[in-house]
Amino acid sequence: MHKILKMEVLGPAVFRMVVEAAQIARKRKAGQFIILSIDEYGERIPLTIADADSEAGTITLIFQVVGKTTTQLSQMKVGDVIENIVGPLGKPTHIENFGTVVCIGGGIGIAPLFPITQALKKAGNKIITILGARSKDLLILENEMKAISDETIVTTDDGSYGEKALVTGPLQRMIDAGERIDFCVAIGPAIMMKFVSKTTEPYGIPTFVSINTIMIDGTGMCGGCRVSVGGETKFACVDGPEFDGHKVDFDELTNRLHSYNDEESKALKRWNEAHGEGCRMIRQAENLSGEK
Ligand SMILES: Cc1cc2nc3c(=O)[nH]c(=O)nc-3n(C[C@H](O)[C@H](O)[C@H](O)COP(=O)(O)OP(=O)(O)OC[C@H]3O[C@@H](n4cnc5c(N)ncnc54)[C@H](O)[C@@H]3O)c2cc1C
Ligand code: FES
Repeated sequence: MHKILKMEVLGPAVFRMVVEAAQIARKRKAGQFIILSIDEYGERIPLTIADADSEAGTITLIFQVVGKTTTQLSQMKVGDVIENIVGPLGKPTHIENFGTVVCIGGGIGIAPLFPITQALKKAGNKIITILGARSKDLLILENEMKAISDETIVTTDDGSYGEKALVTGPLQRMIDAGERIDFCVAIGPAIMMKFVSKTTEPYGIPTFVSINTIMIDGTGMCGGCRVSVGGETKFACVDGPEFDGHKVDFDELTNRLHSYNDEESKALKRWNEAHGEGCRMIRQAENLSGEK
């Protein structure tokens, strides 16, 4: 049982939640995640540990409402309890002083990028951050990321804030200008990570991405999170979630991510009908998942 201690709205359909989880808070490292189920009938969903306070025994989760479980989570209140949280799961990010690191976050991917950037900064790297969102209101953690970055560039698809560009725009510009880049980390939608990896590959810039596959058990047993990396099958929950972006088969990953779209949207509709939330959240979720 994990009590919710804080709940905050970060943007349209993006929430920050602080939850009691003392053992996880003590052990977690940057890049790791948890799997939670809200109650005994709940679906198990993975969320990155965005932050942790080992003294207070709490972890911070940042999540975007995309379907049934995240909708349900967003409707919980301070004092409510999450029945099950398993973690820390996944391999921690390999942190060292690479030199200059470009950290690229897209949409909700900025949440998992935050603890990794924090750890890279602490290890002495020069951090150049590129944050991308579809529009200004969907940009999260800008101030938090700026505070730990030496330089921050913001892009929006519609030009409502920062530079009107995709995150690959400023990245390519930096490469063309001969800026030294020793390492690149990109977290966001699969399509974004694919094109960041394609941008850095010709220049031999090592690039790591964090894969947000479907996950069920989180222990390497169910195979739900399998992903092809360099022609080999890997399990994102135990071998990842971070992999060499130049080796990930992003097209296969994208296909697998959409495997359960029908079932997921039916589950969300059933939840909303049963709980009288109406179609607002359904529209919001469909917009966010790009289904409509
Ligand atoms: C290791 C790992 C760490 C993650 N960390 C975070 C995190 O810190 N914050 C966070 O918000 N999410 C994170 N995710 C994604 C999160 O697990 C999913 O958004 C969640 O499982 C959706 O559950 P649901 O029941 O609400 O929606 P579902 O019913 O499972 O999905 C509803 C719809 O949303 C789409 N969808 C599902 N996941 C995503 C996604 N990631 N991006 C865009 N569309 C999606 C589906 O295609 C579907 O159409 C992480 C995933 C992994 C594997
Ligand atoms: S989630 Fe089951 S093998 Fe990874």
